[in-house]
Amino acid sequence: MEHLIAPSILSCDFANIESECNMLNSSKCDWYHVDIMDGVFVPNISIGLPIVEAFKRYATKPLDVHLMMVNPDRYVKEFKAAGADNLTVHYEACTHLHRTVDAIKSEGMKAGVAINPHVPIENLSCILPHVELICLMTINPGFGGQKLIPEMIGKISDLKQLINKLGLNTKIEIDGGVTVDNARTMLDAGADILVAGSAVFKSANPMATIQKLKSV
Ligand code: DX5
Ligand code: ZN
Repeated sequence: MEHLIAPSILSCDFANIESECNMLNSSKCDWYHVDIMDGVFVPNISIGLPIVEAFKRYATKPLDVHLMMVNPDRYVKEFKAAGADNLTVHYEACTHLHRTVDAIKSEGMKAGVAINPHVPIENLSCILPHVELICLMTINPGFGGQKLIPEMIGKISDLKQLINKLGLNTKIEIDGGVTVDNARTMLDAGADILVAGSAVFKSANPMATIQKLKSV
């Protein structure tokens, strides 16, 4: 599969949602990555349902919503109604992860599970057959613009091996510190989807950066 690019709108200009969407719509990106932070699971608050709805009004590509929040089960239906196409919850935030994943799928969304950098890959083996994607956090979640933790590269290949060993087609999404310079290394290690926030939106030409990420 050709890899996918999911710019993280966390780093976009929220005063100009329509023009940011127009740029993303005409770029080579595949998904919009939408980061929801509750100030409890992570030490930061980002955006909520009304802003997701606003992006949905203009986006011509799927919304890949990443919930960095406690009790995500309570909001599965709300995020579906707001326009989420993929819904990713954190392994560390779900006591009954299979139940949460089932709820996401029964709403007709693709289900994803994200794991923090300290969580071993082996912890995913029971949930892997049930999800479309695993979001590997290559930074500690909460903020854009952080530097990738180098040991995470080995974790990408370990996850790829586990997916292959189980005969699955689960996609690996990388989130945190992705740049044009390190993208090839992550793809070679087994990444399928690259999330990039500051690398895209803080660059001089976001469209051109997306094109570069797509063609590395
Ligand atoms: C961080 C978020 C990321 C973030 C990535 O907690 O989950 O999606 O926007 O930002 P960059 O690409 O700047 O590391
Ligand atoms: Zn994210």
